[in-house]
Amino acid sequence: MDPEPVIRFDNVGMRYGRGPEVLSDLSFDLPRGSFQFLTGPSGAGKTSLLRLIYLAAKPSRGLISYFGRDAATLPRNELPDLRRRVGVVFQEFRLLGHMNVFDNVALPLRVAGRKRQDYAEDVAELLAWVGLGDKMNALPATLSGGEQQRVAIARAVVGQPEVLIADEPTGNVDPEMGMRLLRLFAELNKLGTTIIIATHDLQLVRMLDAPVMTLSNGHLHIRPPRSERLRMREEAEADRVAAAPAAAAPRSNETRDDDDTTRHPIAEPGDSDSGDGDD
Ligand SMILES: Nc1ncnc2c1ncn2[C@@H]1O[C@H](COP(=O)(O)OP(=O)(O)OP(=O)(O)O)[C@@H](O)[C@H]1O
Ligand SMILES: [Mg+2]
Repeated sequence: MDPEPVIRFDNVGMRYGRGPEVLSDLSFDLPRGSFQFLTGPSGAGKTSLLRLIYLAAKPSRGLISYFGRDAATLPRNELPDLRRRVGVVFQEFRLLGHMNVFDNVALPLRVAGRKRQDYAEDVAELLAWVGLGDKMNALPATLSGGEQQRVAIARAVVGQPEVLIADEPTGNVDPEMGMRLLRLFAELNKLGTTIIIATHDLQLVRMLDAPVMTLSNGHLHIRPPRSERLRMREEAEADRVAAAPAAAAPRSNETRDDDDTTRHPIAEPGDSDSGDGDD
């Protein structure tokens, strides 16, 4: 286990006001440089969990630590600095209506004190990458939902944050653009950014060999990446064979059956949940 994950949840619960717990008993780490998906049905608590992660909400019990420090005792004056290390794509975008697309995207760089002439080219290039090269001067209200979403994504990634939290970042774009945006996130991850993406889009989830956190009724289930599930199964198989060497060789039928169960979850994407019996 990572000695100092970017974020650690330890038995966290959350409720709104005096309502019921919408998240219960969450314990997990986001290791430095990791990439995770967060899925679950509408209302399962994805946005609530992300709000805890970007410190927009407080847990009603349990411990959340950020870069090894207890979030509950972080001095208020350190929060702005911490937030600058985190890029967020909000489910409802939250663009600034009075600023054009370029200025919305450049905002985190401006806030960080960088000069326009130093970042103008990067911002333009990023906007071209997300297909908005010709909309730099447009105001958000004149854009489609998918275009606004891409502005929100560009704003979240432009400063190459240490952590990227994205809430349904491809919910309003076509599958092709969704793939393009996923590539952008994957590139950012390669450069070292820790990423968590909430999505309903299982097609997208299947594109990467990443762990999948699934919320259901406020509880979290974490499925390791496909490659790790395969490795664990191979190790278990090797242990089983080693424990019964005499029986292993002649029982070729049984060996073939086991091979099938090993391959099955990987060969058929729709069947990927069948690999969960082991965790
Ligand atoms: N501000 C709020 N006040 C009270 N209850 C809330 C609030 N926000 C969310 N909830 C409740 O918390 C639960 C989880 O909501 P949340 O928005 O986290 O779900 P979600 O998984 O993001 O859903 P979706 O996929 O529709 O975005 C829901 O039952 C919702 O009604
Ligand atoms: Mg949500």
